[in-house]
Amino acid sequence: METQKVQCSFLYCFRDSLAAEVFRLCFPGRIPEWLAFDNMHHQWLLLAACFWVVFMFMVASKFITLTFKDPDAYGAKQEFLFLTAVPDAGRLPGEKHFPEELQPTGKMLSHSRLPPPLVYMERLELIRNVCRDETLKNLSHTAVSKFVLDRIFVCDKHKILFCQTPKVGNTQWKKVLIVLNGAFPSIEEIPENVVHDHEKNGLPRLSSFSDTEIQKRLKTYFKFFIVRDPFERLISAFKDKFVHNPRFEPWYRHEIAPGIIRKYRRNRTETRGIQFEDFVRYLGDPNHRWLDLQFGDHIIHWVTYVELCAPCEIKYSVIGHHETLEDDAPYILKEAGIDHLVSYPTIPPGITVYNKTKVEHYFLGISKRDIRRLYARFEGDFKLFGYQKPDFLLN
Ligand SMILES: *[C@@H]1O[C@H](CO)[C@@H](O)[C@H](O)[C@H]1NC(C)=O
Ligand SMILES: *[C@@H]1O[C@H](CO)[C@@H](O)[C@H](O)[C@H]1NC(C)=O
Ligand SMILES: *[C@@H]1O[C@H](CO)[C@@H](O)[C@H](O)[C@H]1NC(C)=O
Repeated sequence: METQKVQCSFLYCFRDSLAAEVFRLCFPGRIPEWLAFDNMHHQWLLLAACFWVVFMFMVASKFITLTFKDPDAYGAKQEFLFLTAVPDAGRLPGEKHFPEELQPTGKMLSHSRLPPPLVYMERLELIRNVCRDETLKNLSHTAVSKFVLDRIFVCDKHKILFCQTPKVGNTQWKKVLIVLNGAFPSIEEIPENVVHDHEKNGLPRLSSFSDTEIQKRLKTYFKFFIVRDPFERLISAFKDKFVHNPRFEPWYRHEIAPGIIRKYRRNRTETRGIQFEDFVRYLGDPNHRWLDLQFGDHIIHWVTYVELCAPCEIKYSVIGHHETLEDDAPYILKEAGIDHLVSYPTIPPGITVYNKTKVEHYFLGISKRDIRRLYARFEGDFKLFGYQKPDFLLN
């Protein structure tokens, strides 16, 4: 108690006399009466003032280097990331390594946009970090159940596993793999109705193999899937399944939509067909599983990427982003070692770009509470794949 008090008063004394000393140095001969101090402390205080000035100078110099963003420092940081990420990539046997010509050079590193391999390394690194986050455990982890194994398609000939995530150009990827498996000579020759008919298209699901065969493939094959902004994906699923295309898949409009409306419609006098608001309230309900069970595998269009592909349990080789598919598709083909055999069909310009206006438009009029509950369910997907939290909808 006593020593603490002494220290305290010492600190105050120190601060006041320091101020006095600086004042005296700056305005010689103008020291006010209250700042006069004992000559005995004079030299000691001068020394302290010098340290203070040096300290301030160091703080100031930090700001200066920050302002004049040093391109070399940026490059060095990227290089560090690259060096730390590479050993991890080689952790799984059979995992693909970066070909020599793709390794970033010092020149590429100074660009503001990350060179391709680095982007993909960072995505995997982010997933590893988010998977370790205990607070997100429920939202990032899932069992590698039959449901997950049903989502993964197998190309044994080229040792590739592809986890299907609807609404991100999956039909095209399936076509690529169907051709590789040899059932059809080219993408153009695959009839549309065969793409999703797994009896006829020669593209088996991982679930059709025995446990040891499954493990072997999960350990050694090249594995990938594609993601996009989670809310934009839900809008796309809603439009595709409930608004535009109910003719070929009548069950969405005639069974699933009425089921959602019955349970989640707020305004009982409203008689219109399913609205995006009903859909959001269903997805954000912590008890959504009651309806999910009735809807069967149709839920693949709106359950989380975590539930579809188990990204924390299965160590994927590459995660493609729909928003950068022009770069990601060729990269995936190259990494999978099939770029000389197939090419990804041309991507119509503009369709993969994130459209904030569209997202705002769809969520207009939906209560913040419902949007927050929706985010609470999809937070794992946002975090794992590096999508920005949509604060413009939540606040
Ligand atoms: C988190 O997971 C545990 C165990 O699976 C489960 O009992 C619990 O309900 C989950 N919590 C939430 C908020 O989903
Ligand atoms: C409920 O829906 C009806 C019919 O569309 C509409 O006239 C009414 O304004 C709605 N009520 C509320 C509170 O939104
Ligand atoms: C974004 O979406 C809105 C509304 O759906 C549409 O009018 C607009 O053309 C879209 N913008 C782009 C760049 O695609």
